[in-house]
Amino acid sequence: MKLTFSCLFLSLILLSSCQNSETQNKKDKELEIAASSQDWHTQSNAHEIPLSHLHLNITVNFDQKSILGSATWFLDTLHPATGTKPLYLDTRGLQIDSVLFDDHTQANFILEQEVPFLGRALRIDLKENTKSVTIFYKTEQNSTALQWLSAQQTFGKNAPFLYTQSESIYARSWIPCPDGPGIRFTYDAEVKVPTGLMALMSAENPQEKSGDGVYHFKMEEAIPAYLMALAVGDLTFKKIDERTGVYSEMNIIDKAYHEFEDVGQMVNVAENIYGTYRWGRYDILVLPPGFPLGGMENPRLTFCTPSILAGDKSLVNLIAHELAHSWSGNLVTNATWNDFWLNEGFTVYFERRITEAVQGKDYVDMLWELGMQDLKATVEDLGKESRDTWLSLDLKGRDPDIGLTDVAYEKGSAFLKVIEETVGRDNFDKFLNEYFKKFAFKSITTTRFIEYLNKNLLDGHDDWKNAIRVQDWVYGPGIPDNYIQPGRVRFEKVEKEIQAFNNGTKAGELVTDSWSTYEWLHFLRKIPYPIDVTKMNDLDQQFNLSNSENSEIADIWYLQAIRSNYTKANPQIKDFLIHTGRMKFLEPLYKALMQTPKGKQMATDIYKTAKNNYHPLAQKEVESILYPEN
Ligand code: BES
Ligand code: ZN
Repeated sequence: MKLTFSCLFLSLILLSSCQNSETQNKKDKELEIAASSQDWHTQSNAHEIPLSHLHLNITVNFDQKSILGSATWFLDTLHPATGTKPLYLDTRGLQIDSVLFDDHTQANFILEQEVPFLGRALRIDLKENTKSVTIFYKTEQNSTALQWLSAQQTFGKNAPFLYTQSESIYARSWIPCPDGPGIRFTYDAEVKVPTGLMALMSAENPQEKSGDGVYHFKMEEAIPAYLMALAVGDLTFKKIDERTGVYSEMNIIDKAYHEFEDVGQMVNVAENIYGTYRWGRYDILVLPPGFPLGGMENPRLTFCTPSILAGDKSLVNLIAHELAHSWSGNLVTNATWNDFWLNEGFTVYFERRITEAVQGKDYVDMLWELGMQDLKATVEDLGKESRDTWLSLDLKGRDPDIGLTDVAYEKGSAFLKVIEETVGRDNFDKFLNEYFKKFAFKSITTTRFIEYLNKNLLDGHDDWKNAIRVQDWVYGPGIPDNYIQPGRVRFEKVEKEIQAFNNGTKAGELVTDSWSTYEWLHFLRKIPYPIDVTKMNDLDQQFNLSNSENSEIADIWYLQAIRSNYTKANPQIKDFLIHTGRMKFLEPLYKALMQTPKGKQMATDIYKTAKNNYHPLAQKEVESILYPEN
């Protein structure tokens, strides 16, 4: 009896201590999740005081280069915290004139001290039963999100142009808002622009100009602030099919239409892989050449650079990328910028699935290989052991754009490719379909994703877990050696020609007839530089590379020209750098020029002329290359 009792006692203790350590583990885990889901890049407390809806009422003033008006935030009056604490919103470079409650009384507000990268928090003292606060404000000269273009800097050259770029944390520089990817809201807007111009947003859009310059917008799906977008210019619309179309300035609309006429089909293909497109329309806006990015996935309206209008549809996989964000990113959003790979890695993976469905496996294998080359170079650059090569980033106290590297894009997608190859495409697709459904219109952390992945795909399959090595990919540096080698059918042929060329075969005798852009990119990347000027000349004579209409080919050719001191291409290089603002092209070219005293001189001269054509973000980037000491 005694024995049994003590046995029972002992086992009770054991059981309870076991339960204790289990609860402790669970608590630790929850703490860890809470800590890693902390967004270090917003000063807003809108996760405590939920804001359900934004009403914007703004005027775009091209003379003052300012957006001015009001932002009304609607509060959730049922939420217990509403009315008990002050509300904090993010701002940066905004002038705040006044704040009114819904009963038109003045609210007390203060702009807190500037915090590096984050700007100034706007503190508004709420009172009980506050239904809404209206903030009257205007943007100042240096708003990071905005590029104001003169008529000269557009294609049409007869009207000015304005557009915004809010990702990652620049929405706060044109709207006082809770600017974290984990906070979502719906919005509507009234936007007044000079008559004769069209305004477009990441929302339901007009297809014609209004007579009075006033436009109304509605976005009924909740989105994070980084997907707020506005463009104003002398724009026109052309329909592709019932739910897709393209906007641009009049004199490039036909070119744009021709390049993108298959995009309707692309949306159908994407839906077949990962389920219904949830945003209504999918339109594309082609911006003037100063646009600093390739593309930006603003919901319902992808913004894109004109530099993908190659004339032969060869660069439309960039549209596949922005379209894919309609699932990965816009529907299921990275909760913080530390989880950026959940946006971009998934999107590159998905983009390549779309491209594979349209162009075939041999074709997309080239994209996988070029991506892996980029990733290897980036890892080399950052350092093989660098913390910044983990998928799960640590950006606390740092500029979130530091995370904008091939690690998120290429290591992220390579990781998903490993999962696909291990569990089989059908299983992975089923899993991803469920994932996009389950987390639709929500934000998600890396920890939560891994938990979901284990629970819904990997648990019970230790062989899969061992083959994939989730920890190594997500919480470790460099490129784990189980990455998938892409097929090389088409690049093997290119490498034969590289060898022939190296061995003295003349450019005219190389077999290049069937080459796509990506074979050319591989060829031009892999011919060993510096290349003899006579050989550069031979290539140029034969293929007219210095005058290539294809911006990707031109970019790599100019890079090789600079490295090989092939000065004949200098006028075209100069022209290219003045007329494109796309950071992806600017960065390597300016860096290469900086390697020699002559190049340095050329770079600073070009920048003097080019600077005004660049977006503030691109200016910052180029200046960091030209003047590293500042
Ligand atoms: N969402 C990104 C652009 C971005 C990321 C802007 C982070 C600011 C901060 C967009 O989808 C993107 O990845 N664009 C790429 C093109 C793509 C094909 C890799 C670009 O602009 O080069
Ligand atoms: Zn992207």
